[in-house]
Amino acid sequence: ADEPLVLGIETSCDETGVGIVRGHTLLADAVASSVDEHARFGGVVPEVASRAHLEAMVPTIQRALKEAGLAASDLDGIAVTAGPGLAGALLVGVSAAKAYAYALGKPLYGVNHLASHICVDQLEHGALPEPTMALLVSGGHSSLLLAPDITSDVRTLGSTIDDAAGEAFDKVARVLGLGFPGGPVVDKRAREGDPQAIRFPRGLTGSRDPLYDFSFSGLKTAVARWVEERRREGVEVPVADVAASFQEAVTDVLTRKAIRACRDNGVDHLMIGGGVAANSRLRSMAQERCADAGIELRVPRPKLCTDNGAMVAALGAEMVARNVAPSSLDLPADSSLPV
Ligand code: KG4
Ligand code: ZN
Repeated sequence: ADEPLVLGIETSCDETGVGIVRGHTLLADAVASSVDEHARFGGVVPEVASRAHLEAMVPTIQRALKEAGLAASDLDGIAVTAGPGLAGALLVGVSAAKAYAYALGKPLYGVNHLASHICVDQLEHGALPEPTMALLVSGGHSSLLLAPDITSDVRTLGSTIDDAAGEAFDKVARVLGLGFPGGPVVDKRAREGDPQAIRFPRGLTGSRDPLYDFSFSGLKTAVARWVEERRREGVEVPVADVAASFQEAVTDVLTRKAIRACRDNGVDHLMIGGGVAANSRLRSMAQERCADAGIELRVPRPKLCTDNGAMVAALGAEMVARNVAPSSLDLPADSSLPV
C-alpha cells in the first residue's frame, strides 16, 4: 500500500497513548491512563502524570506495534504531540518520539493536540471536507475551530473565557459528590433526571456577547449555589435533576454556537471532538439540531474522542500524505502551542 504508515504518541495530559494508522485506517490504539492515580486529588497532578508517562511509554509503544503486527522498521514516520498540554508530560512523549525517530532513521512530525482531536475523525468517517468546522470540548479546551487545512491552517473562531466544558463537568460532579472524572458520572446520572427541572444560566448568549466564545464558570457557580441552598435548608438534593439540568445548559450553548458558526461561515458539516464529545446528550442534541439546520454531523466513537495516540498518528499520516516537511530533532515541547 502507498498510504503512509505512521505511529503517533500522545502524552499531553494523563493518558499515555500510542496509535498506528495507515492513511485513514486504524491499526492499533494502545492507551495507558493514570486517571486512577489522580482521582484521590480530584484533578490531574502534573508530576504524577509525568512519572506515569515515563513508566508507561516504552511498554505502550511495544503494545501498539504488537497489536498492529508490525516492526518499528516498517513505519514511514513517527508523530508526536508537541503541545499544548502539561510541559513535563509533553516532554516524555517528545523525547521518546525523537529517540525512536533517530534510532530508526524515520522522519519526526510534531503535531498540535487540538488539530489531532479533529483529524482523528478521518479514522471513523474518512477524509474530512475542507474547510472543516470543529467544536472541541475537553477538560482543557472548549473551542470552535475553522480549519481550511488541517495540517497547516487551523483558526480559532472562539474559545472559553474561563472554564473548559469538561472542567465544568468535573467541578459539578465534585459539588454533587460523584467523584473524578466527572463527565461520565454526570452523563450517567443525568439519564434518570429531568433536564427542564432547573433553569441554569446559559453563558455568553446575550445579544451583545461574543458569538463564538464560551463561559462556564457562572454556570458552575449557579449549580454550586443551588445545591448549597438545598443542603442548608436540609432538603434532599435531587442529584439526577441537577445533573440533567446542568448538562442541558452546557450542551444547549455548545450546539447553538457551533451551528451558528457553521451557518455564518457557509460550512455544511460539523465535527465534534475532545473528551466531552463522548457525552450522550451532546451527541443527541447535536444530531437533532444539525438535522434541522441541514448540517452533516461527524462525531468519532467515544474512544477516539478522549486523548489517544491514534489521533496523533492520523494527523501525522495526513502530513506525510501532503508532503509537509518533518520536524527537526530539536523539536521543542510547547505547553502553550497555539493552533
Ligand atoms: O479530551 P480529554 O480526554 O482530555 C483533555 O482534557 O484533553 O477530555 C477529558 C474530559 C474530562 O473533563 C471528562 O470529565 C470529560 O472529558 N468527559 C465527559 C464525558 N466523558 C469524558 N464529559 C461529559 N460527558 C461525558 N460522557
Ligand atoms: Zn485532549
